[in-house]
Amino acid sequence: MFVSQTHLPQLLDTSHYSDEGVHQRERETMFQSGWHCLAAWDQFPKEGDYITSNLLGTPLILWRRQDQIRAFLNVCTHRFSMLTDRPTGCFQKNMKCQYHGWEYDETGNTCRIPDAQSFRPLKKGELGLKEYRVEMVGQLVFVTLNPQAPPLREYLGEDLASLCEERFSKQHHITYWFDREQPCNWKIVIENLLESYHIENVHPRTFKRFPVPEHCTHTFHDTYDYYIHDFKDEPDSANTERFVCHLTGQPLDLKWRHILRYPNIAVGGSGPFYYFLIVFPLTPTTCRLLTYTFHYSGPRGRLWPFLVHRVLKRYGKYLGQQINQEDAAIYPGIQIGNTTQERPHGGGLISAREERIFAFQKYILSQVGRQPAQQTVAEQNGCHSETACEESASNL
Ligand code: FES
Ligand SMILES: [Fe+2]
Repeated sequence: MFVSQTHLPQLLDTSHYSDEGVHQRERETMFQSGWHCLAAWDQFPKEGDYITSNLLGTPLILWRRQDQIRAFLNVCTHRFSMLTDRPTGCFQKNMKCQYHGWEYDETGNTCRIPDAQSFRPLKKGELGLKEYRVEMVGQLVFVTLNPQAPPLREYLGEDLASLCEERFSKQHHITYWFDREQPCNWKIVIENLLESYHIENVHPRTFKRFPVPEHCTHTFHDTYDYYIHDFKDEPDSANTERFVCHLTGQPLDLKWRHILRYPNIAVGGSGPFYYFLIVFPLTPTTCRLLTYTFHYSGPRGRLWPFLVHRVLKRYGKYLGQQINQEDAAIYPGIQIGNTTQERPHGGGLISAREERIFAFQKYILSQVGRQPAQQTVAEQNGCHSETACEESASNL
């Protein structure tokens, strides 16, 4: 059942979905300090493979050296060109700048400078690349821009870290992934995935029905929330799952699990398919959505799991594309509606089924507050906006 017995108020106002000041505060208070997943191990099949990415305006190159991924600023120390602007590639020995050919070794130190004598005096290794911390959980590769960030496991919390290890291990395969800009504020993507209320309307052929409240459990923590839908008494879903687990040899777990680690990391799924999703704010009204779905088809390298893998990959990709397209189609309309100045003063109701959105919005307010012009009279007199809301949802 849901925690709240009543509907809840919308806590965020139009500025939270469109204002440059709020956008900057969000980046400073919530994003710069955190860990962010930028890749999966399966995207680096060979020694020397690299991926370039942009994390909150910082261009990075992620480079595989043996069984490790290292992350460097993708900016050459000579005259600051990007080392490479290719999205992927392979530097088997050294990273080489595309402009004048300076080379860097696996620690980021300069190791070869063409016409080196014309740079005298310059000590060997003097101008190294800036390196960032990388940690992995399962096969997900996380990077932080914050040297003081806690260890990744601690940041994610034990529930999420264990789920990632279990569902995104190196035994799992990437079913489907994409990395795309979306024409909406990043919170619209998060709020959409926190509720099952839109399922019957937006995903009538894929998810079909929304879950029975008695089968749902919402648990709220300081930095994350955890949703479990127990569908053992829902024959349609349970039978499909039994069949797939029988094929793959996976233990049967008739639960849909979903965690949001505030503000921007979500993991969800059941049976052989689990997805990982991360959203980055780009501007107040656009964001970047990176998501991976993984599946398990049995131990790697055997014939039967390989055949199951082919089937799961094809089916999972079809399903993933379909669901993502259905969601992406509604983001622009939600963005416009939420940011219109004529937005109705009444309304903005969050149902008990959607209570995870309320908890998320509460977290956002605790981090960035409101724009002064948007504060209520009570808030201007010193009352924090959460106070009133806490009366109606003290357990969330
Ligand atoms: S800018 Fe990279 S070698 Fe010159
Ligand atoms: Fe959806």
